[in-house]
Amino acid sequence: MNQIIRPRRLRNGLTLRKMMRETRMSPDSLILPVFIREGENIKEEISSLPGQYHYSPDRVGEIAEEALRSGVKSLLLFGLPAHKDDCGSESFNPDGALQQGIRALKERYPELYVVTDICMCEYTSHGHCGILSGREVDNDKTLPFLQKIALSHVEAGADMVAPSDMMDGRIGAIREALDQNGFENTPILSYAVKYASAFYGPFRDAAGSAPAFGDRKGYQMDCHNVREALKEALLDIEEGADALMVKPALSYLDVIRAVKEQTTLPLAAYSVSGEYAMIKAAAAQNLIDEYNVMCESAVSIYRAGADILISYYAKELAEAMKKGD
Ligand code: PBG
Ligand code: ZN
Repeated sequence: MNQIIRPRRLRNGLTLRKMMRETRMSPDSLILPVFIREGENIKEEISSLPGQYHYSPDRVGEIAEEALRSGVKSLLLFGLPAHKDDCGSESFNPDGALQQGIRALKERYPELYVVTDICMCEYTSHGHCGILSGREVDNDKTLPFLQKIALSHVEAGADMVAPSDMMDGRIGAIREALDQNGFENTPILSYAVKYASAFYGPFRDAAGSAPAFGDRKGYQMDCHNVREALKEALLDIEEGADALMVKPALSYLDVIRAVKEQTTLPLAAYSVSGEYAMIKAAAAQNLIDEYNVMCESAVSIYRAGADILISYYAKELAEAMKKGD
């Protein structure tokens, strides 16, 4: 054989392969989701998400400590209240579990970067992401609530807010509320491109946030669409988003790529609960190698164009990245 171009030349040995890599990842880009549940002295494994825990505000420092030790510098916090009502009042309670957790974390770990999820579904008795009028989620009635939630998070010390409710106009509304209250330097990471996805199942078990009736297809996006993703992203940019998110990640790599190519904001991808749970379940049956599937999945998300990865595997990925795997 007389072949001049031999791609295999650059695959010869680990050092060379690592030198030639097109995708490079750093723990700096990782965010770990964490659930804070009302109560005391709680660290309880979540049955739908093996290896993930509910923490009460007094113990959430334990996961912050582990994250920081692994090289993960940022958490995405979710709050689980003891009491729900139709307008989700616990979500903007300055003494709510999440707000207490934020304060505890920022006091003990000022270097930890705290991002908070803004939504109502964990807090409403009906489990929808906004205020109802009849059986519909009322977009414009919900906006003032989202403003109050965001304010309560930043007043407790959150460094960044991440609205996941998918109401129209929420980024503009939250931006305005933050600016009017002296938080003009607090960034908004918009869940701009969030699909109505069956991959959220384990999260909804973990957060007790499944809708009591109907589904979220009236406000979250249809999985058949990609041009609509650009429409959502561009709208949120106009409204003042500082960074964008695509969610879920693994089944939406084409969407990550499209948003990356057609916008200029930093782009996060959320590898959601169902993606994590599938790997865990298959690995528990020895059907796949958990570590290598975890690594390969993460690489695919970065390769598609994500700058930031939100993952339940963040700590393990940080260790893997440090090793150069
Ligand atoms: C709240 C919210 C959800 C997720 C993040 N924020 C659930 C939903 O929209 O039903 C999903 C995260 C995951 O599955 O890991 N709206
Ligand atoms: Zn929600």
